[in-house]
This record gives sequence, structure tokens and C-alpha cells, in this order.
Amino acid sequence: MVRCDELARVSAADGGIERVYLSAEHARANRLVAQWMREAGLRPWQDAAGNLLGRLERLRAGRADPEAPAVVLGSHLDTVPDAGRYDGMLGVLMALEAVRILRAPRPDGEGYGAPLPFALEVAAFGDEEGTRFGTALLGSSAFAGSWQDGWWDLADATGTTLREAFLEFGLDPARVGEAARRPDELVGYLEAHIEQGPELDRRGEPLAVVSSIAAARRFQVVVEGEARHAGGTPYDMRHDALLGAGEAALAVERICRGEHHVIGTVGRLETFPGAVNVVPGEARFTLDLRGESGPERDRVWERITKDWDETMGRRGLRWSARAVHDASALTCAPLLRDTIREGVAAVGAARDGVLELFSPAGHDGMAVGAVTGVGMLFLRNRDGISHHPDESVTASDVALGIRALTAAVLALAADRPG
Ligand code: GLV
Ligand code: MN
Ligand code: MN
Repeated sequence: MVRCDELARVSAADGGIERVYLSAEHARANRLVAQWMREAGLRPWQDAAGNLLGRLERLRAGRADPEAPAVVLGSHLDTVPDAGRYDGMLGVLMALEAVRILRAPRPDGEGYGAPLPFALEVAAFGDEEGTRFGTALLGSSAFAGSWQDGWWDLADATGTTLREAFLEFGLDPARVGEAARRPDELVGYLEAHIEQGPELDRRGEPLAVVSSIAAARRFQVVVEGEARHAGGTPYDMRHDALLGAGEAALAVERICRGEHHVIGTVGRLETFPGAVNVVPGEARFTLDLRGESGPERDRVWERITKDWDETMGRRGLRWSARAVHDASALTCAPLLRDTIREGVAAVGAARDGVLELFSPAGHDGMAVGAVTGVGMLFLRNRDGISHHPDESVTASDVALGIRALTAAVLALAADRPG
């Protein structure tokens, strides 16, 4: 918990938390967590995409085996603007703590000290949120070997491209492929994360196993109308881009409300020229759309586009959308789901059987799933609030979660003799 507070101070914003991919704060956070990795007995390195990793070798007859496949535990260190202190960071720090416990000698009653049949790695991914470049999961996509060349020209709000940001961070864009891991190097990926929704809090349960993660798409939408005088232009002559965008956002809510496990959000809206006495001639907004499956999500997107065609036509506006992020749904690997379930059951955290939750929130596992199986553990966060400074967890839930994660790794070890 103290380390979460310490990481919260590594921020670009005074009095708030903001730490985006390939920023100076990202570099500082990597240095700080690398130090904690060393203290936990891990060998840290920053990969070719700016992700921080740390490794504890498997011991064979007392000797380190650098070829051993690894169980990777982790989450991300980047944040949304004005973030809380647990989304991502908690999962990295819980992973570190689980490794510390797993390698501690037994007599103190806490550790296991048993030789594991795999190496352990902790991953602190550099970009899960997509705050800086709009496309999310950049760090974990590099890890999974699914980096796309089309991303290099993505630009942040100041016009810096992803390629330039790599160079400024001291990374070589030509070498990003070196961050990619092979399936045979990995046993699986386990991530602990706050739930970011209210289910656990409502049910009075501290922990849950995740069944699957929603498919997500993000769009940048432009509505074009006509900028004209706010006093002199009668309503029947106006083509107000803001009003078209407003109707479009309401349509997203109306359409998604009628769907199961599909949810859409307009999170940013700008108008141009943006003057008090000018009818908005252009509006730009974002749409974040998630669904239980890709086809469900895309069917709803079709409905939204038909609705917008009608609205914009009626208002004499034009609209276009650019897809900037597209992530498939992820079903957690049955074996890893079971090991997380065993971990939760082992610490006695479930009153009537281990709760299983679907995740509408996105996680690094969506990208990591392209290279290895994924299992996830959810922790209760008060009132389900996340992407907000009031994110809150209790130390006792975190302690339980660390023990469950540790027990899950041991369950996986028991399943994989030798
Ligand atoms: C990340 O938190 C996301 O779900 O967008
Ligand atoms: Mn997260
Ligand atoms: Mn997040």
C-alpha cells in the first residue's frame, strides 16, 4: 500500500496522478519498480518497447536455468488522466509481493521456498490505457509480438508521433520486435487487478476469478457542419456540429442501454472554432465501445452508424469515424481460470463458492492472450469507482489477494511436475 502511494507521486500532474507511455514519469516509475524488483530477488530489464520486466530463474539442482519457461505475473504502470492509484499499479506490486513470498524460506511461516518447475517473471507494462496515443495495449502488444507498423505515425496531443516518442525515451523503433516473446518461453500470464465495477462491493466479496474480457473498439469521430454568426443565423439555416454530436452521444446511450454487456461512452468532445458567438462548424469526439464478443460489439456499432446517418442527414451535417483501437474479446484459459479459482478458494475468501465475473474493463491480458494463456484475479474496490482519484482498496483485501495469487502459482506448479 505504501508503494502504491509512492508510485502515485511519480506523476506529470501536480496534485493528481497522470503517467503516460514513454514519458519522463514512465521512465521514473520503471526505475523505481526495477529497484523493488531487485529487492525481491528479480533481475530487472526494460524491453524494446519500454515495458519493465523482472525474472527469477528456475533452479535445477541448485543452478539457474535461463531457458526455463516462465509464469508471468503483472499488470501496467501507465494511467488515465487524473487517475486513481490502484488501476494497474496494484497488480504489478501484488505480483512482486507474491514472488517475494514464493521465494522466501519457509521457517518464518510465510514463505514457501519450494523450487518451482518454472521461472517467475513480473511484467510492468508501459501502456495499457492508450491515454497518450489513443490506441491501447501498446506495451502488452509488443510483448505478445503483435505490434503493428501502422502505429508508428500515431500522434499524441502535442503532435509527437509514437516513433518520435520511442527515440526520446531512448528506444530504437527498428528493434521493437525484440520485445516479443515466444509461446514456448511462457507457461501463462496471471494478472491481479481491481474490478473497476461494483459487483464485488455489492456482494460483499473480496475476490473473484475473471471469466472473460470484453471486446473493445475506439473511434475518433468528426462531425462537419457550418460555422456562422450566433446572432444572425436563424435556426432553419444552421448546421450546428455540436448539436449533431450531442444527439450522436445520446444515441449511443439509448442503443447500448437496450443491449446485454455492450456499453458505449463518448469521453471527449471538442468544438471548432470554439467561440461563444459562433455556431460550431465542427465537432470532434471519441467513442469507446465494448461488447461481450466482437460480433456483438460490431452489430451495435452498425446500429449506431445507421442512427448517426439519420441524425446528421436531418441536420445537414457530414460525419466520419476513424477506428484507432480494436481489441478482440479474451476468454481466460480454462487451466489458469481454475488455478485462480483454487487460489481464491485456498485463502477462504469466498463465502458461497468462488465468484466468477466478466470484465467489461480492458486489461493487458487481451493482448498477452495472443502469445500465452491468461488468468485474472479481481479485487473489490470501494463503490466500484475507478479511473478516478477516489479508487480505494483495503489492505486486508490486498493481503488476501496476494495470498490467493501465490496459492494460484503453487496450484499451477503442482499441475506441472518437474
Ligand atoms: C482500461 O482501463 C480500459 O478498460 O479502457
Ligand atoms: Mn488497468
Ligand atoms: Mn484503466
